[in-house]
Amino acid sequence: MTIHRQIFYALAATGMVFAMSAQAAHHGNYEPNVDAVVEKRIEYFKASGSDIQAIFKVHLGAGDFDAIEAAATRMADWANKMPVYFPEGSKSEGAKPSIWQNQDDFSNKAAANAAAARHLAAMAKTGDKAKTAQAAKDLGATCKSCHQSYRNKK
Ligand code: HEC
Repeated sequence: MTIHRQIFYALAATGMVFAMSAQAAHHGNYEPNVDAVVEKRIEYFKASGSDIQAIFKVHLGAGDFDAIEAAATRMADWANKMPVYFPEGSKSEGAKPSIWQNQDDFSNKAAANAAAARHLAAMAKTGDKAKTAQAAKDLGATCKSCHQSYRNKK
């Protein structure tokens, strides 16, 4: 009995240490808690949603290339840090668990999104409306590509 109990405590202790180090590895120095990281990424995604809508519904029509460049730069900056906001274990209603089985693919899709957003910013800078509109559509396709694989529509 005593031996069993000792084994039990040893295992429990090991398990705890493992869980603690796993948590430290997942969150790094970054976000101490999962709720905060989920809340933050949703906030960034909402901003991208408003930005891309404004591009199609307002800025393109108005020929406001400065606004498009600013919005595209915000989306690119967010896309560059997107994978960091999906640490392992940060489950949410909107995020498919397959993200954490395909982290390289998820990061590649975020990188494609960032590249498309940078391209849009560059096109907006030229003031060429047709090229800017095409770049905005191409950017939208990279959002959709990731959503089809990794986002649950609520
Ligand atoms: C690499 C993958 C990926 C890319 C690229 C991506 N998204 Fe998402 N998006 C997600 C995931 C995953 C969620 C769900 C996040 C959650 O609920 O925790 C999401 C959620 C959202 C939401 C819902 C936020 C809410 O209200 O809950 C919006 C809006 C959104 N994305 C817009 C965009 C736009 C616009 C782009 C492109 C400019 C984009 N996303 C690019 C993966 C991606």
